[in-house]
Amino acid sequence: MSKILAIESSCDETAASVIENGKLLSNVVSTQIEVHRKYGGVMPEIASRLHAENISIVIKEAMETANCKFEDLNAVAVTRGPGLIGALHVGLQAAKTIAMLYKIPLIPVHHLAGHIYANEYVSELKFPLLAVVVSGGNTELVLMKNHLDFKVVAETRDDAIGECYDKVARVLGLPYPGGIPIDKLAKEGKHTYNLPTPLKGEKTLDLSYSGLKTNVINLVHNLEQKGEKVNVADMCKSFQDVAVSLVIDRTKKVVKQYDIKQVILAGGVSANSYLRSEMTNAMNEMNVDINIPPMWCCTDNASMIAKVAEKLYQLKIFAPLSIGADPNWSIEEWNKF
Ligand code: KG4
Repeated sequence: MSKILAIESSCDETAASVIENGKLLSNVVSTQIEVHRKYGGVMPEIASRLHAENISIVIKEAMETANCKFEDLNAVAVTRGPGLIGALHVGLQAAKTIAMLYKIPLIPVHHLAGHIYANEYVSELKFPLLAVVVSGGNTELVLMKNHLDFKVVAETRDDAIGECYDKVARVLGLPYPGGIPIDKLAKEGKHTYNLPTPLKGEKTLDLSYSGLKTNVINLVHNLEQKGEKVNVADMCKSFQDVAVSLVIDRTKKVVKQYDIKQVILAGGVSANSYLRSEMTNAMNEMNVDINIPPMWCCTDNASMIAKVAEKLYQLKIFAPLSIGADPNWSIEEWNKF
C-alpha cells in the first residue's frame, strides 16, 4: 500500500500528481509555454524562476484534488534529471523539504524512464521492448529486457528531434513549441522540397538532426534571398517526412536486430500524428506490438513520474536528502546517485 506525491520540473512544465496503489488521484500541470513562446524556445533562467513561483501552488492543487494530506503520504518522488539544472533544482528542493518535514522517503526518478512508463497507463509492457524516446531534449532508442532495465542502443549524434522541430518552426515563423504547428501544416502540404536524409549511406544505427535543421534554415534563407516565397506547408511536409522516416528506419533495424516484441513511443514528439501513424503501420507490417501513450501523457507531466515512483517505492530505492540534480543523468544509470 502506498500513497506517493510526484513532482516534475525538468523543463517548462511545473507538475505534481498523487498516486495511490496504481490509481492516479490527481495530475496538475502548469505550463510556461506562453512565456517562452516570445523567445522561440525555453529560456532556462526564466523557466527556473517560474518553477519557483508556481511549484507550491501546483503541489497544493495536486494534494487538494487527490483529497490527500501531507501526513498521509508514504513517499515523495521527483524528477532528478535529465533536464535544465536550475529547473530541476526547484522540484528537487520542494521534494526534499516535504521528505524532511514529514519524515518520508525521497524517490529520485529519471525523466525518460517516466516518459517510457507513461505507457503503462494504457498497456502492459512486454519484453524485450524497444522504447522510442523522442522529445525536445532527447532522441534515443532504449532496449528493455525487463522492468527498469534500460540499454541505449541508438541515439542522436547531435540535436534531439524535438529541438529540430522547434528550430525549423522558428525559421518558418511558426510559434513555439514548433512540433504542433508543423504537424498540423504538414497535413496540408506536399513533399516538394528536397532535403537530404541524415547519415544516408552510413552503416550506423545513430540518428542526427542538426544537419537537417541547418538544411532547412539554409534553404529558407536562399529562397528568401532570391525573392522566392517559401511554401510553409510544403516545407513542413518535406521536413517532417525526412525527420520521421529516420526514426522509423532506425526502429525497424533495431527491432530486427534484437527480436523486439513491443515498441513503445515516449516523449513530447510522440504526440506527432504522422509519427504515430507511420510507426503503427511499420510495426503492424513487422507483426510487432506497438503502444503509444495517450495524448495527455505525451508531454511533460508528473503522472509519468508517479508511475515509476511506485515501482521504486516497492524496491525501496530512496535517495539521501543531500542528493543533487543531474542534468545529464544517463537512463542506464537511473539507480546511481
Ligand atoms: O517531452 P517534452 O514535453 O519535453 C522534453 O522533455 O523535451 O517534449 C517537448 C517537445 C518539443 O520540442 C515540441 O515541439 C515537441 O515535443 N512536440 C511535438 C508535437 N507536440 C510536441 N513534435 C512533433 N509533433 C507534435 N505534435
